[in-house]
Amino acid sequence: MRQIIIGNWKMNGSNALVAEIAPAVLAEAAQLAADLVLCPPATLIAPLAVALAGQVKVGGQDCHAQEAGAHTGDIAAGMLREAGASYVILGHSERRADHGETDAEVRAKIEAARAAGLTPIVCVGEDEAARAEGAAETVVLGQLARSLPEDFVAPPGGLVAYEPVWAIGSGRTPTAGDIAAMHGAIRAALRARFGAGGARVAILYGGSVKPANAARVLALPEVGGALVGGASLIAGDFLAIARAATLGSAAGTG
Ligand code: 13P
Repeated sequence: MRQIIIGNWKMNGSNALVAEIAPAVLAEAAQLAADLVLCPPATLIAPLAVALAGQVKVGGQDCHAQEAGAHTGDIAAGMLREAGASYVILGHSERRADHGETDAEVRAKIEAARAAGLTPIVCVGEDEAARAEGAAETVVLGQLARSLPEDFVAPPGGLVAYEPVWAIGSGRTPTAGDIAAMHGAIRAALRARFGAGGARVAILYGGSVKPANAARVLALPEVGGALVGGASLIAGDFLAIARAATLGSAAGTG
């Protein structure tokens, strides 16, 4: 399966960044063995989608669980879709921390995204205390079990991103063994719940993925790609990571 490299711009970016990154990404996208997706802030989805001309997909970073209504400041999945998005990141640890999002809310958002035809990128990950206590797998598999709806593997499908909270923006990553073990545990849970469909869900790793460590991470078993934060704001770094996926995809089982 082709690996997928997703850039999460978080609350960063501008029209100037769109003008800088879009041509750089377009110049290489067709030669890469990996698929690319860029998730800018909501205000930049439409201009980025126009600039990428459908050749590279665009995603949102959150959506509301309802289709419309009195929810000041929120954005519905159908609105993201209309702006040009085909993916949406849901349940990111920064949303869980900043906005108190629960697994039940994440599940409702996944259902709304899928109903609008968006492919959800569902984020799970343990914090540092859970890792220290040996509870990382319990936390992650619990989030997964509570967040994913029953029809998760039916079209338009969905992706899972394992992002240990303590690895995000810290420059620290889990050991290769720890990443492989967690991805293996997630795969086993997906298979047990969804059967053959669960075997095909891409499981991305996220948390301090950089050009220097991308090849090592992307070659690990059951790593189907990467969810990249800071490095996705620099065209050269994002593309260097994508090139590592090109090499890694032959060895990876993602
Ligand atoms: P960094 O790559 O900046 O650590 O961010 C990871 C992340 O949170 C992507 O969603």
